[in-house]
Amino acid sequence: MVKILATGGAGFIGSHVVLELLNSGYEVVVFDNLSNSSRASIERVARLTNGTPEFVEGDIRDAAALDALFKAHDITAVIHLAGLKAVGESVAHPEQYYDVNVAGSTTLFNAMLRHGVKHGVFSSSATVYGEAEVMPMPETTPTGPVNPYGKTKLMIEQILTDITSIGPGWRSMILRYFNPVGAHKSGQIGEDPLGFPDNLFPFIAQVATGRRAVLNIFGDDYPTPDGTAIRDYIHVMDLARGHVLAIDYLLSDKAVDNETPVVNLGTGKGSSVKEVHAAWEAACGFDIPAQIAPRRAGDVTIYCADAAKAKEMLGWEAEFDLAKMCEDHWRWQKGNPEGYR
Ligand code: NAD
Ligand code: UFG
Repeated sequence: MVKILATGGAGFIGSHVVLELLNSGYEVVVFDNLSNSSRASIERVARLTNGTPEFVEGDIRDAAALDALFKAHDITAVIHLAGLKAVGESVAHPEQYYDVNVAGSTTLFNAMLRHGVKHGVFSSSATVYGEAEVMPMPETTPTGPVNPYGKTKLMIEQILTDITSIGPGWRSMILRYFNPVGAHKSGQIGEDPLGFPDNLFPFIAQVATGRRAVLNIFGDDYPTPDGTAIRDYIHVMDLARGHVLAIDYLLSDKAVDNETPVVNLGTGKGSSVKEVHAAWEAACGFDIPAQIAPRRAGDVTIYCADAAKAKEMLGWEAEFDLAKMCEDHWRWQKGNPEGYR
């Protein structure tokens, strides 16, 4: 059996990726310091699948811990999801983002080099793009991240690409996610933000359960049909399947040594904040209080993926629509109003 290391595998996206890997016949080792997650997600993944993920608690900045892990496990490929991801926090504490994301990734890639692990898939983000002129955005859209979080993502992309270009037998892939939302259909695993939820779906979910009073719609004066900003929301299970296909691809003879293709994972269909709010009300079957608030600093009008390359290269296409994203996110939130706690 082929063994995959998932760094950050206890987190929101990681837990769904681990589930899909196990369901696809891969063995999985999760390496996570639990700074933004809990072991409960891994225990629940084990219950939802036939396979059992192995769990190693540790930090990607800890070279000795990584050496021990690579010695103990015969890893074929790494899916690197571990990192910090809050845009606002990255502006307030850039040093932490460069340390965990950039230094942590470099430490991980060096450990892969030392132990002859030559395949890496990196969790990047649409946030590496600047304000784009062409919509939907293909992977060739000029990059231009505007916050430290996005800058770290772009730096890690460049580091992985450079290492892959010279390492004998290395093949890697960069996945740029658009807006991952939803949850596994069981309602057993999902997003569990610690503290204040910055993102739209987790915030609406907490208004729906009564933990928050009202959804603030940040700006209704954007140049869009209903005045609210548009994003390409993607169901986390579609995203997870994209990772399995990325690994399948890297292990096949279709992949080319020393190359690191960049692939967008999005649906190609944008939804406005008002459309998302309406879809949530339909999924819940009751009204969710909302009010118009000023624009949020740093927001762009529209972000939408051109996902043609994912289809052509990986045979991947998003299956799930906005209604299913809301329905599954709501099932998770309703059953676990306090997350895993
Ligand atoms: P998450 O916080 O739920 O998962 C990240 C995991 O990494 C957590 O389990 C956390 O404990 C772990 N981690 C953090 N620092 C670590 C360290 N130093 N060593 C080991 N483990 C560490 O976030 P997520 O939404 O699942 O995101 C996963 C990845 O996808 C991240 O790299 C994120 O930047 C990227 N991404 C997320 C989004 C999104 O909107 N959720 C969008 C684009 C890209
Ligand atoms: N929004 C509201 N009210 C809220 C929260 C969000 O109106 O309470 C609006 C935002 O203004 C934006 C849209 O909902 O127009 C989506 O906002 P999110 O915060 O959910 O997502 P972003 O597009 O701002 O960013 C997210 C992640 C980034 C990632 C990006 C693309 O936070 O890290 O998706 O993948 F890079």
